[in-house]
Amino acid sequence: MLVLGIESSCDECSAAVVENGAVLHSNVVATQIEIHKPYMGVVPEIASRTHVEWINGVVKKALSDAGTHLDKIDGIAVTNRPGLTGSLLVGLSFAKGLSFASGKPFIALDHIFAHIYAAHLENTISYPYIGLLVSGGHTIIAIIRGYEDMQILGTTIDDACGEAFDKVAKYYNLGYPGGVIIDRLSAKGDPESFSFPDPSLHKGEHPYDVSYSGLKTAVINQLDQFHNKGHEKTPENIAASFQKAAIDMLVKRVKKAAIDTGMKTIVTGGGVAANSYLRKSLSQLEGFTVYNPSLKLCGDNGAMIAGLGYHYLKNGIKSPLSTTVSPRVSGFRKTYP
Ligand code: KG4
Ligand code: ZN
Repeated sequence: MLVLGIESSCDECSAAVVENGAVLHSNVVATQIEIHKPYMGVVPEIASRTHVEWINGVVKKALSDAGTHLDKIDGIAVTNRPGLTGSLLVGLSFAKGLSFASGKPFIALDHIFAHIYAAHLENTISYPYIGLLVSGGHTIIAIIRGYEDMQILGTTIDDACGEAFDKVAKYYNLGYPGGVIIDRLSAKGDPESFSFPDPSLHKGEHPYDVSYSGLKTAVINQLDQFHNKGHEKTPENIAASFQKAAIDMLVKRVKKAAIDTGMKTIVTGGGVAANSYLRKSLSQLEGFTVYNPSLKLCGDNGAMIAGLGYHYLKNGIKSPLSTTVSPRVSGFRKTYP
C-alpha cells in the first residue's frame, strides 16, 4: 500500500511516499529556515504563505522522486494537529483537494504520534516502550503501547526543550535555529565550565516532568552564579554546559520512567532527538535498547506522516472532508501509575 504523506505544521513544507508504513520511496523536505532567519524565529503568517507557494511543487517532487503518480497512490495522510493554524490549513486543504479530485481516501493525523513513529520507518520496534518526544514545541516522556496509544508520564511545565536551545542561542547571538548550532559549539566547549542546576519540581506528584525556564534564566541572567572557577566564559563553554544540563535532565527522567515501568526499550523522536549529546547519553544507559530516528527523520518530515497514516488507512479508517485543524496537543492520558 503506497501512502502520500504531507506535513506543513510549522516551517517545513514536506511530502513523502512510503510503502506499507516502512519503505521510504521519497521524502522531500523544503525548509523555510532562511526565510525566518532575519526574525530569529518562525513568523506564522510568513510560514503559511510560503507553504501556499511551495506545497504543489513539494508534493509533485515527492511523487516523481518515488517514480510514481497520484493514480498509483492508495491513500493520503496529512498532519492536522498540533501546530500553527495557518500552516496546518495549507497542508490539510491541499490533501483534501487531492483526495476529492482523485477519489483516494485521506487521513488527518497527530504530529506527535508521527514523530514517535519516525524510528519505526527504519527499525522493527515492538510495543510497548518509553517514548521521548523532544522538539521545538513539545517535550514528552510517555509509555507508547501502539501507533496511537500514548500515555504521558512527564512533560515540560514551561518551555519545550528545543525552544530553550533556540532562546539561549538567540540571546547569545549564536544563530538560528539554535539547537544544531549549540550542539556544534558544544563539541568545542567544556561542559564543566558552569554547573546549572536540575530543577526540583513537585517530584512526588510528577517525577517525570521537566522545566526549562529556570535553566534558561540561569544561562541568560545568572551566568556568574553558576560559573566554575578556572573556566573561561566562552560561547563554546556556555553552550556545552547548557546542553549538558538540558539533556541530563531528560535522560535522568527517561531512565527513571523506564525503570519504574519495567520497559527495556526507549524510542526518541523530534528535532532535538538529533542532538549528539542526547544520543550518546541514551546509548550509554545500560540494560536498554534505544532507537533514534536517523537525523533526516528527527525534524518535521512527510515520511513519518505517510508511515503512520498507513496504519489507519489499511484498516479503512479515513477522515471526512469536513475535517479541520487544531493548534492544540490532544488530551492524552496522564494517569500513570
Ligand atoms: O521537530 P522539529 O523540527 O519541529 C517541531 O515540531 O518543533 O524540531 C525543531 C527543534 C528546534 O527547536 C531546533 O533547535 C531543535 O529541534 N534541534 C536541535 C538539534 N537539531 C534541531 N536541538 C538540539 N540539538 C540538535 N542537534
Ligand atoms: Zn515536529
